[in-house]
Amino acid sequence: MCGIVGYAGSRPALTIVLDGLRRLEYRGYDSAGVAIVDDVLRTAKRAGKLANLEKALQSEDGLDTGTTGIGHTRWATHGGPTDRNAHPHRSVDGRVAVIHNGIIENFAKLRTELEQQGIEFASDTDTECAAHLLSFEVSRSSVEDPAERLADAMRAVCRRLEGAFTLLAVDAQAPGAVVGARRNSPLVVGRGEGENYLASDVAAFIEHTREAVELGQDQVVLITGDAIVITDFLGNPAEGKDFHINWDISAAEKSGYDYFMLKEIAEQPHAVAETLLGRLNEQGDLLLDEVRLTDQDLRDVDKVFIVACGTAYHAGMVAKYAIEHWTRIPCEVELASEFRYRDPVLDRSTLVVAISQSGETMDTLMALRHAKEQKARVLAICNTNGSTIPRESDAVLYTHAGPEIAVASTKAFLTQLVACYLVGLHLAQVRGIKYADEVGAVVAQLQEMPQKVEQVLAMMEPIRKLARELADAKSVLFIGRHVSYPVALEGALKLKELAYMHAEGFAAGELKHGPIALIDEGTPVVCVVPSPRGRGVLHDKVVSNIQEVRARGARTIVIAEDGDTAVEPYADHLFHVPVTPTLLAPLVTTVPLQVLACEIASARGHDVDQPRNLAKSVTVE
Ligand code: F6R
Repeated sequence: MCGIVGYAGSRPALTIVLDGLRRLEYRGYDSAGVAIVDDVLRTAKRAGKLANLEKALQSEDGLDTGTTGIGHTRWATHGGPTDRNAHPHRSVDGRVAVIHNGIIENFAKLRTELEQQGIEFASDTDTECAAHLLSFEVSRSSVEDPAERLADAMRAVCRRLEGAFTLLAVDAQAPGAVVGARRNSPLVVGRGEGENYLASDVAAFIEHTREAVELGQDQVVLITGDAIVITDFLGNPAEGKDFHINWDISAAEKSGYDYFMLKEIAEQPHAVAETLLGRLNEQGDLLLDEVRLTDQDLRDVDKVFIVACGTAYHAGMVAKYAIEHWTRIPCEVELASEFRYRDPVLDRSTLVVAISQSGETMDTLMALRHAKEQKARVLAICNTNGSTIPRESDAVLYTHAGPEIAVASTKAFLTQLVACYLVGLHLAQVRGIKYADEVGAVVAQLQEMPQKVEQVLAMMEPIRKLARELADAKSVLFIGRHVSYPVALEGALKLKELAYMHAEGFAAGELKHGPIALIDEGTPVVCVVPSPRGRGVLHDKVVSNIQEVRARGARTIVIAEDGDTAVEPYADHLFHVPVTPTLLAPLVTTVPLQVLACEIASARGHDVDQPRNLAKSVTVE
């Protein structure tokens, strides 16, 4: 949420900053802006997407030579998405420019205080307070070196701020320096040769360097062309954590696809395979990535809570079926934003599983912290190496989906499912409920999933055709039972966020308790049918539910297993997925729903990768 880039070196900063912003635009696209320091400090900013700023820059002089700069792409919180609220924000004296991601919670108090001192605000944002405070601190700092002085002033400002923030600042009197600060929001340093970078995400600078430094909580960093200096908010020297970025630049490019989302859907077989890679040791024991929990800790677990938001929450809902089935431990799934406010019963024997693609989602982070305060153990399932959620957890299982750029989550969801299955199997194994050979058998079934997802992807043309027919529908309903219920919810979420259509997912058995009244002549109802093998009763119940909606005029779109002939008489449109064990079926049944949503959105003329009002990585509560 909000993309931030900073550069200090010897090349023109504007191009580097704009290229970085282009790669971070998925984090917010309400406005964009840059500040470049040359002999003077110049800023340019525009409401709307980055393209608006780029157009405006064609008629702005003097920004293309400076070799120090910062840039911002915004997801609006305080103040509407207008030119005046776009970042950077400058101090009244014009000396410093600041960009920000997060929310400064005590901004109203600070604003009143600054206004009492005669400062006139030029925007409605919380960020502007930081710019005025910074200018004040810079001018009263006794530090001689201009770059060090800016860092000193930033520390003083941070000590006064409450809430979550990543801040970057430049000072007209400190050319060659960019200062950054972070609390609860992401910021990484890119280490170059004779140049250094700051960004909310490594994607912004991967083109230039693969060596990065992860900053800790409450740290300030000063970058110049040849130095990276990290301190805490009091000025004590601090260390970042060096890491190497091992994904390829093409992972952050569209590579010929019309949308990142289509590319990421197509990457799912690979992402699933990568997440499964190297998980069993020679003895057949399952391995997690980072485990700071003993086997005894895991044996003591008497309750599992899964906390997550949106799509990740749906992965958690699927996980509940698998974890309870394999471990016989009660498992609850809760929206992270609700979790801590209802005072859940947690103790040392509770395992909280926090699922987050970005590792930065504030709701999930706060749920995790609440769990830790109550002494629960926390295991993170995350796609972003070194992000806050895994860093603060007791154990981590990384999903190896690669960077997910489209705002709507696809490959991250499938890999979260895989990770959840692995957690369930690991718990069962450690607790002695499943033995190496049984775990091995399920892992072998999981190993077949990349190929099955591939088969589904090869059969998507009829879904695309149907999507064009449904583009004008007013509403689409999704139904499923057991693990197909969260799949129905996920299908509806994708359609809402991308196509801006009314879409709802229901447990198929619940329809008759109210929602069936929504069905009218021709209402499309997507029915996700369980396998007729194994849990045959479930299958038959869903087939009855399909008949019920059809009897009320619904146009039924049925996703069923290969060879399931029982559904044929009731399906207006029938799509088959490969035969798959019931618990693993969401790995294949979700894919047609992703494609359906993407194609309907595209047929309605929407920007599939950047749906309105949304941003990837939601770093506010
Ligand atoms: C929907 C979507 C969101 C995220 C949610 C959690 O397509 O992507 O619902 O799943 O905002 O994000 P993470 O997983 O980063 O915590």
